[in-house]
Amino acid sequence: ATEHTLSIIKPDATRRNLTGRINAKFEAAGLRIVAQKRLRLTQAQAEAFYAVHRERPFFGGLVSFMTSGPVVAQVLEGEDAVAKNREIMGATDPKKADAGTIRAEFAEDIEANSVHGSDAADTAAQEISFFFAGIEITG
Ligand code: CMP
Repeated sequence: ATEHTLSIIKPDATRRNLTGRINAKFEAAGLRIVAQKRLRLTQAQAEAFYAVHRERPFFGGLVSFMTSGPVVAQVLEGEDAVAKNREIMGATDPKKADAGTIRAEFAEDIEANSVHGSDAADTAAQEISFFFAGIEITG
């Protein structure tokens, strides 16, 4: 089925000017970027977005990393977009990511791993509404 998923190009990638190369991978795999904006998260926004990880030991580092520079939030549309995006990103830890994936090619380490993608259809809807109003998404 056609789905939408939330993608974030993270500060390590915007800092290295990789937005276009990452977007080219989404498009080559058949995902359409139907909404996109560049912004800088506040600490409160990053904490709210990653609230599910609040108790994890990496939470504080993750929040300071995600607020360290601009991010590009985007909505990707396509057949099985949630799973397809996870394939294109590769494993969270770039050392474990398959060759050719975004994280294998671009990530610096398990924290500065270049991209975020929703992990399921229900979290995708939640994460999309965190960043976008319906009127901003144009299929
Ligand atoms: P993301 O897919 O955005 O979800 C949570 C983020 O926490 C993850 O990518 C990484 O950027 C970061 N992170 C840092 N350390 C870890 C870890 N040990 N396990 C999982 N995620 C981590």
